[in-house]
Amino acid sequence: MKAVAVFPRERAVRLIDIPEPRITQAGEVKLRTLDVGVCGTDREICGFHYGTPPQGSDHLIIGHECLGEVVEVGAGVTRFKKGDLAVLTVRRPCGVAECPSCAEGRQDFCYTGRFTERGIKQQHGYMTEYVVDSQEYMIPVPRELREVAVLVEPLTIAEKALIEVWQIQQRLPWSCPQAGGTRKPGHCHHALVLGAGPIGLLGAMAFANAGFSTFVYSREDEKSEKAELVRSFGATYVSSMVTPVDKLVERVGTIDVVYEATGASKLSFEVLKQVGPNAAFVFTGVPGLKGTSEIDTDTIMRNMVLKNQVLLGTVNAGHDAFEAAIRDLGDFLTKWPAAIKSLITAQYPAVEFKQPLLSVEGIKNVIRFG
Ligand code: BGC
Ligand code: ZN
Repeated sequence: MKAVAVFPRERAVRLIDIPEPRITQAGEVKLRTLDVGVCGTDREICGFHYGTPPQGSDHLIIGHECLGEVVEVGAGVTRFKKGDLAVLTVRRPCGVAECPSCAEGRQDFCYTGRFTERGIKQQHGYMTEYVVDSQEYMIPVPRELREVAVLVEPLTIAEKALIEVWQIQQRLPWSCPQAGGTRKPGHCHHALVLGAGPIGLLGAMAFANAGFSTFVYSREDEKSEKAELVRSFGATYVSSMVTPVDKLVERVGTIDVVYEATGASKLSFEVLKQVGPNAAFVFTGVPGLKGTSEIDTDTIMRNMVLKNQVLLGTVNAGHDAFEAAIRDLGDFLTKWPAAIKSLITAQYPAVEFKQPLLSVEGIKNVIRFG
């Protein structure tokens, strides 16, 4: 079968032929790959800046945003049957007995750093015709989501952030209706999303769907298609060409949550200075290491203390976020079908894998296997 592989030493990315994987354990499921999404991480790996092949291998099969259809199940599989749709988690446990997170199936919070990630770190990925893995790393997807379920994995980033934000904000002495309480929300739910790429736009939809007044801050102008798209799901688009960072509060009002999806560290710390009392600021981007830059640490630290602010980084996702993503995608399809479908901007057959891996055009580009 065909697979897309990166050869870091040769500095090459090419289609290779490999044997079809087979079920060898009772708990395994074999999927026929339908769609694999391409993201910034894949492009970084294909630029040889990130990613590690499995031990002893000269190449890494990439792809970590996968929707598949079950074609075969092992004798001990209870959660799947032939014909079901499934998405896969990315991270696999470190296997170190002392790591409490991995032992609990929460390798997204691994302590040792020795976790692996399919298609990214020491494990082959999903950009291939068939995938075999344990049922515990798969989540069932309803048929109605066939056309958009490739967006589940990138949406899990926002879902994990939302879960964490709700948990953190339970520290507040009132309970916001969005969190299941009865008090008036007041200023507690103005969310600002930084960036209008796939992670930002999916995040904005998730925050809007969770009841936040949601603002998306990005470079494109306010008449652009992106801005139109943001407005189509009830969020407000704010262009950095019109509103500089120090005017954000004038435009947005008190900022209660920031969901950063740009990987731009300097901009992010500038925005951090603008957030309101009790705010939570969530980083999701992984910036390249471009050297140091100056930030106003006194103002930031002073604000964070005097306003009880929280700064949070989040990576990867557990089952809870995958389930939330599947539930939310269903909501998006009902409420904003055109918007959610428009996030998938192009689909390529496997032989044209180079196109989406090299270009940054569109929002979410997908390689379609089946
Ligand atoms: C993936 C995560 C992964 C992270 C770091 C992201 O693109 O969505 O699952 O943990 O990269 O490798
Ligand atoms: Zn990704």
